[in-house]
Amino acid sequence: MGAVVAVVGGGQLARMMQQAAIGLDVRLRVLVEARDGSAGQVVPDAPVGRADDPGAVRGLADGAEVLTFEHEHVPGELLTRLEAEGVAVRPGAHALRHAQDKIVMRTALSELGIPCPRWVAVRSEEELAAFGEAAGWPVVVKTARGGYDGKGVRVVAGAAEAADWLADLAPGAALLAEERVPFTRELAVLVARRPSGEMRAWPVTETVQRDGVCAEAVAPAPGLDPALAHQAVEVATRIAEGLDVTGVLAVEMFEYPADDGAAGGSRIAVNELAMRPHNSGHWTIDGAVTSQFEQHLRAVLDLPLGPTDPRAPVSVMVNLLGSELPDPATALDAVLARCPGARVELYGKEVRPGRKLGHVTVYGEDLEAARREARTAVALLRGDPA
Ligand SMILES: Nc1ncnc2c1ncn2[C@@H]1O[C@H](COP(=O)(O)OP(=O)(O)O)[C@@H](O)[C@H]1O
Ligand SMILES: [Mg+2]
Repeated sequence: MGAVVAVVGGGQLARMMQQAAIGLDVRLRVLVEARDGSAGQVVPDAPVGRADDPGAVRGLADGAEVLTFEHEHVPGELLTRLEAEGVAVRPGAHALRHAQDKIVMRTALSELGIPCPRWVAVRSEEELAAFGEAAGWPVVVKTARGGYDGKGVRVVAGAAEAADWLADLAPGAALLAEERVPFTRELAVLVARRPSGEMRAWPVTETVQRDGVCAEAVAPAPGLDPALAHQAVEVATRIAEGLDVTGVLAVEMFEYPADDGAAGGSRIAVNELAMRPHNSGHWTIDGAVTSQFEQHLRAVLDLPLGPTDPRAPVSVMVNLLGSELPDPATALDAVLARCPGARVELYGKEVRPGRKLGHVTVYGEDLEAARREARTAVALLRGDPA
């Protein structure tokens, strides 16, 4: 029987990990929020429990080869305790903290000399105002912990606009304030790293966020200056090594105009990190030789990593965010007939406005054609009027 890999979190990322696990005869054991949720539907061994319940997480890890995650919301002290008890936690608690707390992340990246937006931790309106005066308004303010999909991110024109968040701060806690980067686009670099140190990066991906939520991804990032692409991958691998990450690391970045003749006229700055498969890497399921989900399993099991080469000159991934249909799967007949190149991934989730319900990837020779087909497929799944 194959190795048991314990995964905290029962959303679409664990669901897609199951696909990769089947081929490798890896037995996933997933701690789910609900038995009939996205991962619970497809993983037989899916105990229900909370990610912050020590008993539930310890039980999940019991007898498993390794404990890993599809989200970051597991208390660090619990993971440190499990590590002391001999559980292989990957990524380890010492690495994962940088994906759990954006101030911890900024501090560590700055120490590693990684390019970041200008930033400061603030505890009061006075501190935020001082930063805004120095860096220029508007300023981007973020909750250090618990944010995702743009929740916990606010662009403010003055310190008073963050007053509620500042008032809610726990003793000793702070908000992250950053200069607003005038980015031309957002990029992501995914890299996988094994405990033994082997690393593989996929080509740089361009991502498009709408209202703080990833809407589309294109890989390799079109028209990216080769020197900048090289630098982006180098930054991601330096972070993976510097923070001792195991498994998949996603590094979100900004590309912004340089005023000093830098490579391709642009520079990059790191936005944030995720230590798990990431929305920016969904295209790899169909568009790369090894998908991020398989690579994550290989990496946390310390197995040789697979090639990350793209299968086609371009892959476009479009997210299905909400739907007018009671069940997007009812559109499959139309989608599969009209969009033969569409690789459809539905997450088995109940429809709610704006919710990530699935995605479509199209790979091929031509960016515009691939984008058109992927968008058409998603429009059908969304029930848009023809
Ligand atoms: N310093 C910044 N300058 C400009 N835009 C930003 C900045 N930080 C975040 N954003 C925008 O907000 C989005 C969400 O921010 P992020 O820190 O990635 O939060 P989340 O954890 O919700 O993904 C980013 O993808 C980007 O579009
Ligand atoms: Mg983000």
